[in-house]
Amino acid sequence: MPHHLTRADRVDEQQIRALPKAEVHVHLEGTFALIDLLTLARENGVALPGPAATLFDIATHDEFEAPEVSTGGGSGAGSAGLSGFLRFLDWQCGLVRTADQAARVAYAFAARQSSSGVRYSDVIVNPTHWNRWVGRELALMDALAGGFDAASQDGLCEVNIAYSLLRSQSRAHAEDVVRDLVARAPRRVVALSVDGDEKATGRTGEKFRDAFALAASAGLRRTVHAGESSGPEGVWDALDLLQAERIDHGVRAIEDPALIERLIADGVSLGVCPRSNVTLGIYPDWASHPLPRLVEAGVAVTLNTDDPAPLGSSLESDWAVTAATFGFDLPQMAVFAAQSIEASFADDDIKSRLRHELAAHGAVAPA
Ligand code: ADE
Ligand code: ZN
Repeated sequence: MPHHLTRADRVDEQQIRALPKAEVHVHLEGTFALIDLLTLARENGVALPGPAATLFDIATHDEFEAPEVSTGGGSGAGSAGLSGFLRFLDWQCGLVRTADQAARVAYAFAARQSSSGVRYSDVIVNPTHWNRWVGRELALMDALAGGFDAASQDGLCEVNIAYSLLRSQSRAHAEDVVRDLVARAPRRVVALSVDGDEKATGRTGEKFRDAFALAASAGLRRTVHAGESSGPEGVWDALDLLQAERIDHGVRAIEDPALIERLIADGVSLGVCPRSNVTLGIYPDWASHPLPRLVEAGVAVTLNTDDPAPLGSSLESDWAVTAATFGFDLPQMAVFAAQSIEASFADDDIKSRLRHELAAHGAVAPA
């Protein structure tokens, strides 16, 4: 565990950017820079739901209500922050209407990742937020893949897609989606995900069991949001019913020692996003976040942003605040970088290249 740090030991954002790493829990929907959002609204002649300068504050602090009907939210006591936030994502993604606009958003994401020193990213895309693409979800995937291809050719971060179901979707819809993915194997889609508000829907493991089983049998990787607005039971369901290889969030697993043991035994990592949890009201402040207890317990933890643009953050800022809050030193941050590489769904070539780059960087503590 990290020792108490003096001020001089503080890990700064420059050191964090320099660490070769992956990011595995970030939603494309949560990465539109304000300037890109304003450009999309102007291109489409769409009025903003509030003052331009404070759009992201509305997204994270108010109970966002768009003029048009939304699909993503739902409400539930204790997760009001999350449900309003999901409605904001619906409004925002509704501004992406052409393949060129989708490719532009994808390219901008890769550039954003590169500017944080992220060499590889699995990005979650939930097409239900992109309401102009209903019935054309795979065309959306194709447009995004084109943007990621262009970014890759320009030497930017390599990106693959985790295609996300929305927790409130029906069993039949989810199975249709996965059958389509398996039959058409869209480029760069490497995983199936489920996100949305667990509190609003209750337990959904049984509902999605067959969809995830089909994905697994076709070689799609699995990552599941759980233990954010649900308790440990959501994480158990992800493991027992959905064959999850990674848990997105999973922080409330800390409440159940048997679950911690199971995560370790199965080698399942948690894609933790402390700033998101604090801003969206899962924990009251950084100091209350269970991240250090999860690390101490021996669970593989990755450190991620979730939705950095509307949360007003960046990966390097979140890592720096994490280091300062919990007294993590640079070697511990390099452990997070190593875990991000191992937990990623990158192919073996990319993984071994990144392992070497991180080792060459020299910040990893000797074993
Ligand atoms: N979609 C985008 N951000 C999310 C979060 N924090 N939880 C669930 N679904 C999400
Ligand atoms: Zn998430």
